[in-house]
Amino acid sequence: MLLHLDASARRRSFSREIGDAVADAWKRAHPDDAYVRRDLALEPPPPIGEAWTELCDYVLEHQITDPARYKEAVRTAAQAEAWAVVEPLLTELVAADTLLIATPMYNFSVPAVLKAWIDQVTFPRMSLAGTRIVVAYARGGAYGPGMPREPFDHHERYLRDFFSGHFAVDDAVFVGTEMVNALLDPALAARRGEHERSRAAALEAADRIGAPL
Ligand SMILES: Cc1cc2nc3c(=O)[nH]c(=O)nc-3n(C[C@H](O)[C@H](O)[C@H](O)COP(=O)(O)O)c2cc1C
Repeated sequence: MLLHLDASARRRSFSREIGDAVADAWKRAHPDDAYVRRDLALEPPPPIGEAWTELCDYVLEHQITDPARYKEAVRTAAQAEAWAVVEPLLTELVAADTLLIATPMYNFSVPAVLKAWIDQVTFPRMSLAGTRIVVAYARGGAYGPGMPREPFDHHERYLRDFFSGHFAVDDAVFVGTEMVNALLDPALAARRGEHERSRAAALEAADRIGAPL
């Protein structure tokens, strides 16, 4: 199953466009496999609350590592309410062979709706080893190797570190476009070509990345 998440607050979005290209290539290669799409911008997961932390503490204290057993942590009405939010999100994540996340960079990092989803579905010592992860991204500026803004990339770096450090997925694939702000900002007009080239390269790569997943 492919789980496809969107996180951009806008409909006409470059991360959505590139994510769609990966998903289309995957669908052509897997016409009979299940595909689930969740738009985190349209239906934002709530931030975790105190009852969620109680579930998490119980799982850690009782050394529960199998997500199928997390429900044992539910002991109060508030915890049941918190679990009712987690359960559908976690069920589709655990069922996914491939996780495709389409996300913009917001304020050097990921959108709050994506962070809220991560907070909801992540429990101690939870592994997603074996799950393929692809991130389709868009950024207003340029953060690649050697760019002045490279040290400010808490977007790809955060996601890579998190997938690797917490979920044991070391080979997440990132594909995206940069310098989107050149389309809007007159001061960056000379750099529109950079954006257009990175967008074209991402769409071409999306095809190659999606099919073999
Ligand atoms: C709230 C907000 C914060 C943003 N912060 C950054 C940023 O820190 N760095 C950057 O390069 N671009 C930033 N941008 C620009 C977006 O990354 C860019 O417009 C991107 O194309 C958005 O993705 P989308 O096209 O999928 O909606 C920001 C845009 C918004 C709306």
